[in-house]
Amino acid sequence: MRVSEDPAGACATHLAACLRAALVHSERASLAVCGGSTPGPTYRQLAAEDLDWARVDVFFGDERCVPPDHVDSTFRLIEEQLLAGIQGPPPRVLRMHGEDTDYASAAEAYADLLPPQLDLALLGMGPDGHTASLFPGDPALLERTASVLPVLSPKPPPRRLTLTPPVFAAAHERVMLVTGAGKASMVRLALEGPLEPQGIPAQIARDGSWFLDPAAAADLQSHSRT
Ligand code: 6PG
Repeated sequence: MRVSEDPAGACATHLAACLRAALVHSERASLAVCGGSTPGPTYRQLAAEDLDWARVDVFFGDERCVPPDHVDSTFRLIEEQLLAGIQGPPPRVLRMHGEDTDYASAAEAYADLLPPQLDLALLGMGPDGHTASLFPGDPALLERTASVLPVLSPKPPPRRLTLTPPVFAAAHERVMLVTGAGKASMVRLALEGPLEPQGIPAQIARDGSWFLDPAAAADLQSHSRT
């Protein structure tokens, strides 16, 4: 876990290093991205990293069920914050078709695109402990077979598609980026509280690489500042 004044930059550097390492041993590398208001600066800095983007597959950890040009679309966020900044051949982007109102069909179609193991999954966390579009108490947290499910979200917009816990668990590395004092108590529960991922879905990344600012880390009992 890294606590720094620039968690976005530290996270972008880490993601790029992980992707470069994956490309040493494989022809392609895969990254699942997340939405929300936090990761924009990370995506902008990641876009500037020296990386063979043409060999990277960008997947989505979740997506809102809106058109891809909608202000709430995570695909639009990625277009604007990551893809727009990449010089040279772009990554392959495999977006979730959130605009498809046959939600179950859209989920199944996306599941067919997923690799057996993602190299990296970038995640964020809400103040309630949700991650991706896995919210506390949601039956999707108990899913052990399907890779993608349609869910109803208490965080607007309500209808979303999300990767399920087994997909995140199988990823080679989970990377969690959390900032702000409003999440400090949940960060402590997620990292230092009892293991209860049904109640705190962000614990699916408990063993991952966490990038925090001092405000989000303020309640942690044991952390080293970097
Ligand atoms: C989404 C994300 C979601 C997000 C958290 C944190 O599409 O909304 O996948 O899990 O990471 O809600 O959101 P903020 O970065 O806006 O706090």
